[in-house]
Amino acid sequence: MPPHLYFMFFLLFASLALLNLSQFLFSTSYSCPSPSSSLKTKPIHILIVSSWRSGSSFLGQIFNHHKDVFYLFEPGHAIWMKFREESSELLHYPLRDLLHSLFTCDVSPLHHYLPEGGKHISEMGFFAESRALCTYPACSAYMPSEGYDRQNCFYRCVNSSMYRMAEACRMYTHVVIKTVRILDLSILFPLLQDPNLNLRIIHLVRDPRAVALSRKRFKLLATDDRVLLKNEVISKNMNSIINNVMAKICKSQVAINKLARTYKSFDGRYMVIRHEDLVTYPIESLRLIYDFAELHVTKDLEQWMYNVTHKEIQKSGPFMTFSRESSKVIERWRTAANFNFIHQVQLMCKGAMQSFGYLPVRSKKDQENTSIEIRQKNWVDRGVIYQGQW
Ligand SMILES: *[C@@H]1O[C@H](CO)[C@@H](O)[C@H](O)[C@H]1NC(C)=O
Ligand SMILES: *[C@@H]1O[C@H](CO)[C@@H](O)[C@H](O)[C@H]1NC(C)=O
Ligand SMILES: *[C@@H]1O[C@H](CO)[C@@H](O)[C@H](O)[C@H]1NC(C)=O
Repeated sequence: MPPHLYFMFFLLFASLALLNLSQFLFSTSYSCPSPSSSLKTKPIHILIVSSWRSGSSFLGQIFNHHKDVFYLFEPGHAIWMKFREESSELLHYPLRDLLHSLFTCDVSPLHHYLPEGGKHISEMGFFAESRALCTYPACSAYMPSEGYDRQNCFYRCVNSSMYRMAEACRMYTHVVIKTVRILDLSILFPLLQDPNLNLRIIHLVRDPRAVALSRKRFKLLATDDRVLLKNEVISKNMNSIINNVMAKICKSQVAINKLARTYKSFDGRYMVIRHEDLVTYPIESLRLIYDFAELHVTKDLEQWMYNVTHKEIQKSGPFMTFSRESSKVIERWRTAANFNFIHQVQLMCKGAMQSFGYLPVRSKKDQENTSIEIRQKNWVDRGVIYQGQW
């Protein structure tokens, strides 16, 4: 064949490949398998997408307490710790692949990311957050009849093997993973298209002013911040880091929401919820979230949900202390932060405030005046599940 023909073939192939790729990425005709017909045989995969200090541990616990759920708390942490000199953008790809593996109960990538080669589940720093990893059969130190005790688990299950984790995972109808490390939802297109997955995304957002204040007080995020800001030019000044981190986080939350509302492959598979609505309307939110995830709500779970959002719970108890996250304290920033700080956050996060219905305050007086609304209240009324027709 003469060379120019080779070139023609090459062009043809290249354009066909591009066409396929763009169909793959941006397909608008893709329809997911009917959930009700596949529930018995096919597991459901839920990804909680959120950001630091936004209440995602709490949302994760709501799933963790359901008997059908295999829950993993932030497995992507291992990747960020292993490659802490890289950028969050680059680490999206190993993270995406790890999520894909874990959703299908394949734990093998963890052997390469965890510090001791992933011999034991305890190498995952947060394993005790997961009820499934703290009970039989993942942890053989527990009898099948024993309940979940987060604090005891930390000591008793320290030697459980990663293979038992995979075995346990296969026994559940729902695999739920929480991550704060996705800043661009488009990396998930291949997972949405994979016929072996039935992926749904719950996007949890929180008032940026509360997030910023919480970040300022919680100083353990230095490594995460470095990965997050790797591609940005910033000064070493603490306030400037917070401003830059907030700007980046807020921008990504808006982009995530926008992308999900634009592409049909997210139809019925994307739900956004505000942390404030979750703790203000706990029972309604529980029902909405479980409905979206196709999980049964039990009276016991409703009682638990009510308890953790309304009662003071002892620190030493088996569950995390959530009561400090309850509706009375979601507005703590109004008195605890100075107005300059709040004003800066409102500027950095203007888009996110608008997109998610948070209302700016214009003075210290307004900040502290509780008769002045700081968020639109109609989110639950009009349904927090986005199904393509807002
Ligand atoms: C875990 O393994 C170590 C080393 O083999 C052992 O010393 C320790 O007692 C074990 N812990 C539990 C709770 O089984
Ligand atoms: C909720 O709190 C009540 C009263 O403190 C307690 O009796 C009950 O066991 C709790 N229920 C759950 C599911 O946590
Ligand atoms: C608080 O805001 C309300 C509504 O705008 C206003 O009527 C009231 O005077 C304000 N209170 C104070 C102490 O400024």
